[in-house]
Amino acid sequence: MNFINDQHTNTYPQAFLSDVLTGLSKPNRYIPPCWLYDTVGSKIFEKITDLPEYYVTRTEVKLLHEIALSFSQIIGPNASLVEYGAGAAIKARIFLNALIDPAEYVAIDISFDHLEQSLTELALDHPDLRVRPLAGDFISGVMATSLDSETQRVGFFPGSTIGNLSNDEISTFLRSSRDYLGDDAYFILGADLRKSSDILIPAYDDAQGVTADFNINLLKRINRELDGTIDSSQFSHKAVWNDELSRIEMHLESLEEQTFEVAGQSFTMSKGDTIHTENSRKFQRPELDKLIQENGWKMVRYETDKDAYFSVMLLKAHQ
Ligand code: AVI
Repeated sequence: MNFINDQHTNTYPQAFLSDVLTGLSKPNRYIPPCWLYDTVGSKIFEKITDLPEYYVTRTEVKLLHEIALSFSQIIGPNASLVEYGAGAAIKARIFLNALIDPAEYVAIDISFDHLEQSLTELALDHPDLRVRPLAGDFISGVMATSLDSETQRVGFFPGSTIGNLSNDEISTFLRSSRDYLGDDAYFILGADLRKSSDILIPAYDDAQGVTADFNINLLKRINRELDGTIDSSQFSHKAVWNDELSRIEMHLESLEEQTFEVAGQSFTMSKGDTIHTENSRKFQRPELDKLIQENGWKMVRYETDKDAYFSVMLLKAHQ
């Protein structure tokens, strides 16, 4: 998964700087999770998806294999599969193999260059498929190009990246994708489900410390790209289960009283202060029904694995 990678820095260095300076100045320090995914962060995230504790990717991929044919029967032929934040397109391949004569695979990512590279192999494996990278900031709904007509549009947003968004961002995303994909569109959406914190906490604080590296890399990125002087060894990774808001929160906790600079601006943190870096929300069916219904879609199928850890839904545009 990449909804942003390091190309973003080239395109939007100001946005990174401004999110970091604003985020560190708030009483509850918060830097949005999109900045976790530079080249290094994206590689560490790939490792996370293979960790024994991180059930998310494994469970979703197995479920996608189980349901791909039945969803494809409903969707029918001549589909344009439009994936948001495509990255390596591994999960899209499962659907592209199951869909009846798919016409097109459109991979939307903020980084056009990154996409072109990862789609070359896919195009070789599917010679009859039109494979198109599209640059777009899908969270805010800003798309560079419109889609061809005549195909059955199918949005695809796997991985439970929806759980990393705020409610407002989810609404904007669902509404703008509904507008973009059009009246007859379908949408395949993945969402991680609420479960025991005994399973959730290790999934976000693994024994090998890979998730800790992923989180700490944000501080190193700030040093690399924003002239930071942060001593990352003075921070530790924390994964906290927030039961009320039904989400895992990632934080970076200061181990000492410390002062550092970012782009010439000075910040002080006391021992125990944290920088909040990500929310990973764990959904329940009624919340998903409500979000979907209120933002232009209706639920056609709701599938889960046998333990109800993860759900993959088929939505249809509301008329
Ligand atoms: C990308 N996203 C769905 C991951 C998640 O599980 O929320 C990001 C992640 N953060 C720590 N581990 C994985």
